[in-house]
Amino acid sequence: MDSLYEQVKNVLEKYNQQHLLNFYDELSDVEKQKLLSQLSEIDFQKTNNLYESLINIPIPTDELVEPLDYYIKSEIPVKERRELENYGTSLLKQSNYAVLTMAGGQGTRLGHKGPKGTFELNLFPKKASLFEILADKIKQANKRYGVTIPWYIMTSENNNADTIKFFEEKNYFDYDKNMIFFFIQDKLPIVSADNGKILLSEPYQVNEASNGNGNLFEALEINGLIDQMKESGIKWVFVSGIDNTLVKVADPLFLALTAKNSQIGAKTIFKKDPYSKDWVFCRKNGKPAMLGYERITDDITNAKVGDKYLFREVNILCHLFSIDAIEKIANVKLPYHRATKKNTYINDEGMKIVPDSPNSYKFETFIFDSFKFFDNITLLRVQEEKEFAPIKDPVGVYSPETATKLFLKEEFN
Ligand code: UTP
Repeated sequence: MDSLYEQVKNVLEKYNQQHLLNFYDELSDVEKQKLLSQLSEIDFQKTNNLYESLINIPIPTDELVEPLDYYIKSEIPVKERRELENYGTSLLKQSNYAVLTMAGGQGTRLGHKGPKGTFELNLFPKKASLFEILADKIKQANKRYGVTIPWYIMTSENNNADTIKFFEEKNYFDYDKNMIFFFIQDKLPIVSADNGKILLSEPYQVNEASNGNGNLFEALEINGLIDQMKESGIKWVFVSGIDNTLVKVADPLFLALTAKNSQIGAKTIFKKDPYSKDWVFCRKNGKPAMLGYERITDDITNAKVGDKYLFREVNILCHLFSIDAIEKIANVKLPYHRATKKNTYINDEGMKIVPDSPNSYKFETFIFDSFKFFDNITLLRVQEEKEFAPIKDPVGVYSPETATKLFLKEEFN
């Protein structure tokens, strides 16, 4: 162990992260071994590079920004909509559709102890977790289309065991256990926003967390699941987050439009407040992309053709990807972004500090950076109150209280 200790110490010195061994002498033998083995797996070069390179990213000035076309669900003529829905239904009945839930996030804003999917809503009189709400939706789709949809659930190393335990305790919500596939995404250390020092979550443990929802493609590939999907005949994968209580997991209209037009699709909602910080869909240099709020000028936000705004479509993390698209993205490297998060840490005196405000950076890749590898993306604007009620914060617009109200309204409509 001593030689491993020396090796690790040298590496930490090289990357100016020696503080990670501050409490080493006080640890038990098991803890010492745990810490050394974790430290020997970390890519410090990559972590330091990310911290330094993502501090000041210049806003590109030479990109050609253009609008992306979109459908508005409520404006598709009834006859056309029926035809599309019939086509989508026929696709859904072919057993080549999968649902993928991204549940590898930290859920720092909500602050729920345990995986976010285990968070329970009070649906009077019954209580249901976010996982159960999703399971029920997929079961309903199974009944409607006479299939058993394979359900892929992306977890992180931090929450995988607890997620699986929860499913076991709940008897997999009576879903066919053999049709649920958990897979773990990759991780990276969390660093202090002040100085780029990697945080300890315990004196014997480095705080590492999932590296963003864009890792989903690579994680599928690494876990052999792209081949498994292909072997089982999957052609379309619906991808969404864990926390949108109104998500429609198998929408024939969305599937039909996407299948007719492109390899990838996204549902959108209209950006009502032009000055909100929401990013909007656009084309950059001819390819589908998202436009960051710092680049949305008054001219852009107010641009219209007739009564149709050109840059007001907001991403709600409801996507369709063809299996070919997934395979293509799994073979490219998506860029990292820096997300500012609230993370508990061990300070220099060995005390556990629970910060009141965001104190750290998490490095994440985002799904939307994959759009540019395609010529087109099918956008379908849906009504926010019918399809988007995520739980992000304990209170406010995206809180359990708001989501519960909207969910119950939709359920009993
Ligand atoms: P969010 O960006 O809302 O992050 O994730 P979060 O981790 O859930 O919550 P905060 O920001 O810490 O409060 C959107 C979706 O992407 C998933 C999340 O689980 C959620 O369903 N996600 C996010 C992953 O699966 N992996 C990640 O690394 C990040």
